[in-house]
Amino acid sequence: MTDFTIKKRASALGAEVIGLDLRRDLLDDTIRALRAAWLEHLVLVFRGQDLTHEQHIAFSRRFGALDTHDTIPKFRHPEHAEILLVTNFENTGKRLIVGRQWHSDLSTTTQPAMGSLLYCQEAPPAGGDTMFANMYRSWETLSPAFRSMLEDRWALHDMTAARETRMRRGPEELAEIRRRNPPVLQPVARVHDETGRQALYVAEMTTLALEGMSEEESAPILRFLYEHSVAPENTYRHSWQPGDLLMWDNRCAIHIALADYGESERRVMYRTTLLGAPSGRLMEAA
Ligand code: SIN
Repeated sequence: MTDFTIKKRASALGAEVIGLDLRRDLLDDTIRALRAAWLEHLVLVFRGQDLTHEQHIAFSRRFGALDTHDTIPKFRHPEHAEILLVTNFENTGKRLIVGRQWHSDLSTTTQPAMGSLLYCQEAPPAGGDTMFANMYRSWETLSPAFRSMLEDRWALHDMTAARETRMRRGPEELAEIRRRNPPVLQPVARVHDETGRQALYVAEMTTLALEGMSEEESAPILRFLYEHSVAPENTYRHSWQPGDLLMWDNRCAIHIALADYGESERRVMYRTTLLGAPSGRLMEAA
């Protein structure tokens, strides 16, 4: 018996959890059942919540240890290191660009995020959705021949691979970002540490090349994998309302924040990030 119900939101991934007030101190049994639902559906949607930062952090901690966002201190909440500010405006009014290509959180580090819990405070009147793709299915729907070519291969994940970063930063700035965040090799097919299933683990915002191949040689293979992963039937698209909290599994799902809303409209979200198991190795150590 659980004290919530589940309603699937799309066939590939995503389910709404109905009947829980996340401000409450939930029973261990409820958390266990939520974790099982999360592993099954990859993205859980909780609507109509009203959370302080402390309540958001406390709920998140029930699923594991939290990141303090040391790799992106610019976006860290000044009083709560566990909260990442996911907003299109800085307090100064400066426009920000976050997560606008498909990615899995912290894949450019050797401790990628297990999960992320994003809480919506302000949503634009139209647009600003987040899309998710199921990377188990991305892997499983490749042909056996293609899978065997990629099975033991590694891919380079680099913070400077992001389109916006490459467009806006000069060569010296890119070198400095790379010095502070050395590129990491991650398995192309990553084994999920709880389910034991393999999931494709490349995404356009962070993956630069396949190990042992140049960027030019890798590009057509990676491009195919990106397009294959985000085919509409493999996705869930969430339209945000204030009070929504989404919890996704970065080990087997990628996501993108869509930038299809007005220049002057605000989108204000807060994210906690669940630390994951070590994965990958630094490029220098390759
Ligand atoms: C993120 O990439 O973690 C944020 C996604 C979003 O803003 O929708």
